Amino acid sequence: MSFKAKMQEAANSKGSRIVLALDFPFEPVPNREKVLAKAQKILKAVHPYICAVKINHHLTLPLGLFDGVQAIVEQIRGEGMLAIMDAKVNDIGNTNQVIADYYFAAGFDAIIANPFVGWAEGLKPLFEVSKRLNRGVILLNYMSHKGAVEGYGQTVIDPETGQQTSQYVLFAQKALKWGADGVVVGATVPEKIAEVRQILGEKVGIYSPGVGVQGGAAEMAIKAGADYLIVGREIINAEDPAQVARGVCDSIKGI
Ligand code: XMP
Repeated sequence: MSFKAKMQEAANSKGSRIVLALDFPFEPVPNREKVLAKAQKILKAVHPYICAVKINHHLTLPLGLFDGVQAIVEQIRGEGMLAIMDAKVNDIGNTNQVIADYYFAAGFDAIIANPFVGWAEGLKPLFEVSKRLNRGVILLNYMSHKGAVEGYGQTVIDPETGQQTSQYVLFAQKALKWGADGVVVGATVPEKIAEVRQILGEKVGIYSPGVGVQGGAAEMAIKAGADYLIVGREIINAEDPAQVARGVCDSIKGI
């Protein structure tokens, strides 16, 4: 089963299209056990309202991939969710492949990569290892922060057609061509979500971060065409994370 199909299955069985960004603020190194315990506690509380968990450097740096994060990935998968590594892979092909090999060895179902590095000797080896191991690749398409306009929002000349277009339009077309399982478009730019959805049809899933703290609205992102919302601090920093997770999950039901 493809990663895209596994996500649909997890979302159906959980009744949720929320991907939790399991991010915590910096802690002095001697507190790393506390970070692990906090992550495990939050997962226990919120898992009924979440279909997947996205892990970032906030956990891999203090805990280490095989000394702490792997145990979290096992917990995530044991509770019927999928694990996504937000590595934003962005290097030459050989390095990208080794990065993906390690994350997949730790049990991740999918990895996020940056299309700016291109295909040949860039993301091709990453897609190859992902297909061989039956894992997913999710590509950045238009990021959620303000400065995204300087890169993803640039007007460029399509080298194949010679026509002027937007960088993110080209990236959406590449996501289709390269066989990506998903793309990331910020909830802060719902008009871009709608435009990308037009290009992708139903072939590639849209993951939308930036809900809550960054100013994006859950319902607007889903109405514009997002399949999944990535939510971090809004849930993690809440007094009652389970209640907030349930609230966000319920707010987009039936849209
Ligand atoms: P918050 O706390 O703002 O967390 O809900 C968002 C999480 O998502 C990451 N992030 C992105 N990841 N493309 C990505 O692949 C994006 O456009 C993007 N915007 C935010 C962020 O690092 C955090 O983990």
